[in-house]
Amino acid sequence: MIVLGIETSCDETAASVCRNGTILSSIVSQQIIHKKYGGVVPEIASREHDFLLNQVVDQSIKEAKITLSEVNAIAVTQGPGLSGTLLTGISFAKGLAIALKIPIIPINHLEGHIYANFLAKPDLQYPFLCLLVSGGHTQIWNIIEMDNYILLGETRDDAAGEAFDKGARILGLGYPGGPLIENKAKFGRPDKVDFPRILLGRESLEFSFSGLKTSLLYYLDDFEETDDIKLPDVIASYQMAIIETLSEKIRRAILKTKSQRCVIAGGVAANQSLRKKLKEINPQTEFVFPDLSFCTDNAAMISFLGQIKIQFASKKKYQDFSFSSLPNLKL
Ligand code: KG4
Ligand code: ZN
Repeated sequence: MIVLGIETSCDETAASVCRNGTILSSIVSQQIIHKKYGGVVPEIASREHDFLLNQVVDQSIKEAKITLSEVNAIAVTQGPGLSGTLLTGISFAKGLAIALKIPIIPINHLEGHIYANFLAKPDLQYPFLCLLVSGGHTQIWNIIEMDNYILLGETRDDAAGEAFDKGARILGLGYPGGPLIENKAKFGRPDKVDFPRILLGRESLEFSFSGLKTSLLYYLDDFEETDDIKLPDVIASYQMAIIETLSEKIRRAILKTKSQRCVIAGGVAANQSLRKKLKEINPQTEFVFPDLSFCTDNAAMISFLGQIKIQFASKKKYQDFSFSSLPNLKL
């Protein structure tokens, strides 16, 4: 069984081919045009997908060393994401599936992120905890088995990825903020500035990051570098406030559920300091992280999850082409 995956939920145009659970190709074209605006411009992103999809899919087919006629099904991201960009990908995928007379599988992008962990660890056992940390989401899930997911806590305002992106914008570093902050933080000391770890006073597993970014803004108002404290120290301290908040909530979630396994999903999972901190929580807990290339948005997770879904579905399922994009789709 060969599944072609298509992902256009935000500003990455991506296509991937998965054959019997193995990724044969994963092409991601990041739209660099948004850098000059300091964030993703939805209308431009949709047009870029429209322009890039043909060649990205073509490349994924070539790299997989197959022909289009060998594809048995197409998996496409249905949501959550930007309405226009999702629609562009779905319309393209539907057209292709109709032409090839094959089924189409709408995929939840968040579920895709979670299942990217099975690419890193194919024998991952249920149940497991999942810290889902992306540009739009910060959630802790208890994954009991496929299609049985319990939300334990989420952010009340900004997502962790947003805290990186907005922090980077305040610092004048550029977009996307996560990798830029991570690189600068390597040259600083994370204990130099005491940024707030919000909602740690409560036992709940909820998060809040909007106050953190405001405290960075106010801190920088009066900030001047001295021999004792340099800008990389501020950046490292800011990153550590995000990381410690995430890892403390995961520590509590592990205690609460007595989970033995925890996976991390979404773009922020690429952060090496976060990975290190999580591993220090509890030696008894097994932590799984996706491959770096499968942390941020990609279509490998979409083709892989599509394959799992269609394998366990009845023959009639996924013949329905009437679905549309769901920008606010929940897990
Ligand atoms: O999963 P993703 O690619 O897109 C969404 O579904 O939102 O996540 C993007 C987010 C951005 O906020 C980006 O700044 C963050 O992931 N990110 C990182 C790193 N790489 C990407 N955050 C921290 N450290 C990184 N190395
Ligand atoms: Zn994502």
